[in-house]
Amino acid sequence: MVYNFKNDYTEGVHPRILETLKKTNMEQHEGYGEDRHCKEAIYLLRQKINNFNADIHFVSGGTQTNAIVISSVLKPYESVISTTSGHISTHEAGAIEHAGHKINEVESLDGKLTCKNIQSVLDAHSDEHMVKPKLVYISNATETGTFYKKNELEALSIFCKSKGLLLYLDGARIGSALCSQDNDLTLAQLSQWVDVFYIGGTKNGAMLGEAILIINDNLKENFRFHLKQKGALLAKSRIFGIQFVELFKDDLFFRLAEHANAMALKLSRSIEKMGYQFISKSTTNQIFPIFKQNLINRLSKKYGFYVWKNVDDQHSAIRLVTSWATKEEAIDRFITDVKVDF
Ligand SMILES: Cc1ncc(COP(=O)(O)O)c(C=O)c1O
Repeated sequence: MVYNFKNDYTEGVHPRILETLKKTNMEQHEGYGEDRHCKEAIYLLRQKINNFNADIHFVSGGTQTNAIVISSVLKPYESVISTTSGHISTHEAGAIEHAGHKINEVESLDGKLTCKNIQSVLDAHSDEHMVKPKLVYISNATETGTFYKKNELEALSIFCKSKGLLLYLDGARIGSALCSQDNDLTLAQLSQWVDVFYIGGTKNGAMLGEAILIINDNLKENFRFHLKQKGALLAKSRIFGIQFVELFKDDLFFRLAEHANAMALKLSRSIEKMGYQFISKSTTNQIFPIFKQNLINRLSKKYGFYVWKNVDDQHSAIRLVTSWATKEEAIDRFITDVKVDF
């Protein structure tokens, strides 16, 4: 049977969450996020970021979150700045453009945005004949598995404020970023430096669900109308509340991300020891080793993964993603199978 390293949502849901969903199944609740589980989840998340003023909403997926947050924040003529590899630029079927907003894309080797990148967009947009860049989109972790250090996020935040820009952080893989062995940023610190961000549950043990945290007061008004209009205000939002309580009442969220990272680290260290290169230096749960085509062909008979990028005629980088559910035996088997070629 093929073992899947394609993604971090190939399994269903962490058993503890499933158990609680079962236990609470016959409870009767208000709909649309007014139930006690959502309220408790909001309390726990506010506690985690040490900010009881944050507005928190639950939705079902990442693309939906990006589309709703970005379209709710921007005026019709305003645009969003992102790296060319940013998820909104590459993998959302034009959801942002569909809402009428241009994405100002900038090249970035490691998937991260810098103040210099942003300034280059501002320099190229001087008046009302062009769109007006207003929002900066970053993701943590990025699409290449890298993440923002404390000083990098702080610098971006200060820069954005000084230029009148808003900062939005896509946290589809925020658990993995914050649990990286090299991370020096806490969830609470991160929340102080952005205007709005989301915590991804889908890729870290939840059945589905993302929590949107709005920090900037100016972005809070009528957000539920935006959710409702886009079909994202779910009657059965209890499902989100129950899951986020379970994930955050005792830091299960972080333990699951630590496991995913540990599995990725074991893989990357062993592959590196054999002398292979990577397209990015990742200590999160996505790694991108460069293999010869014949090795890729052989591995693909036993493992699921994406071929991410052609490096030259004979080599490509593949993407291996680990998750809260990745089995260590599968990692060991993969390493052994790569060694055959070594
Ligand atoms: C950084 C990032 N943002 C958003 C998404 C979109 O999530 P979804 O597939 O739930 O729409 C993904 C999914 O891979 C992602 O990696």
